[in-house]
Amino acid sequence: MTEQIVVIPGDGIGQEVVPAAVRVLDEVGEFEFVEAEAGDQVKAETGEALPQETYDLVASADATLFGAAGETAADVILPLRKAVDSFVNVRPAKAYPGVDALRPETNLVFLRENTEGVYSGHENRLSDDLSTLTRVVTDSASRRLAEYACEFVEANENGSEEFTVAHKANVMRETDGRFRDAVVDVANERGVDTDEVLMDAFATHVCLDPTRFDVVVCPNLAGDVLSDLAAGLVGGLGLLPSANVGPERALFEPVHGTAPDIAGEGVANPAATLFSAAMLLEHLGENEAGENVRSAVEAVLEDGPRTPDLGGDASTEDVTSAVISRL
Ligand code: NAI
Ligand code: MG
Repeated sequence: MTEQIVVIPGDGIGQEVVPAAVRVLDEVGEFEFVEAEAGDQVKAETGEALPQETYDLVASADATLFGAAGETAADVILPLRKAVDSFVNVRPAKAYPGVDALRPETNLVFLRENTEGVYSGHENRLSDDLSTLTRVVTDSASRRLAEYACEFVEANENGSEEFTVAHKANVMRETDGRFRDAVVDVANERGVDTDEVLMDAFATHVCLDPTRFDVVVCPNLAGDVLSDLAAGLVGGLGLLPSANVGPERALFEPVHGTAPDIAGEGVANPAATLFSAAMLLEHLGENEAGENVRSAVEAVLEDGPRTPDLGGDASTEDVTSAVISRL
């Protein structure tokens, strides 16, 4: 059966890196690509950043590949994560040979809570002077994330059999306290070792010695910020893929945004999106194809050509063609 992949380039460099990934996917398998719209551009045309048709496609597809949306990012990506019932955002941050990285020994995976925390949408303007935000933490979402984390380390996907919980339960005793306790309880029940780190201290430790960490389980906002920090350690946002995983479906996207400073120039680094496509292939059970794509991208990172963010002068097209010739 031909699997269906919904493809949403979105805005800015999404329009450049997503077609690159589709070319690569087309080389390694038989897929039916269904293109859909979301983001600033479709909002300008129709008034809606996320057309119902796009939502419905994502909610019923085997997998989705998304680029990025601009100003409307929150209006697009938060509902799309819900469309696939995604409770975890998997964000590997790895340094690659050939790429000039601040910390070349970095090899981490963030497992970020993907439904609640401060991103659950409960913000209020109460007066001219005062705005508030309600932070949501449930046992059920925290435990679901922890179950995934246990399975992740049990499958030894990143070479580690334990994980670190990053939190700030010393200050947010109720919310992060609940998060920490729920995650640690599940790990104890399953016999998985954990350690803990305060999320602010993590930011320092990971810069000084990233080898202290392998798999890091964290609340939503912490995962967002700390994974961008890790991107800085490995050579930039052009390298980090992510998977929004739900029980059946998943949506794959680079960690970066629309990069308005380089959009339209044809020089965006496609690596983050190509690594996201490799994760998509593995989600579909196409492990060999996924590994093939990942190795091809790694080989091109090592030998070139490279885009300007990595110090090269190649275009998105040059890098994509080089990857395809390595498949
Ligand atoms: P950004 O990730 O778009 O760009 C940050 C910096 O990294 C820029 O200098 C950019 O040129 C560079 N960069 C990012 N990806 C790159 C790539 N593949 N190749 C080479 N260089 C790359 O983040 P920024 O500037 O904070 O946000 C720009 C827009 O993107 C905003 O409108 C924001 O809302 C949106 N955004 C959307 C996201 C999404 O749709 N999931 C995620 C993050 C931001
Ligand atoms: Mg982010």
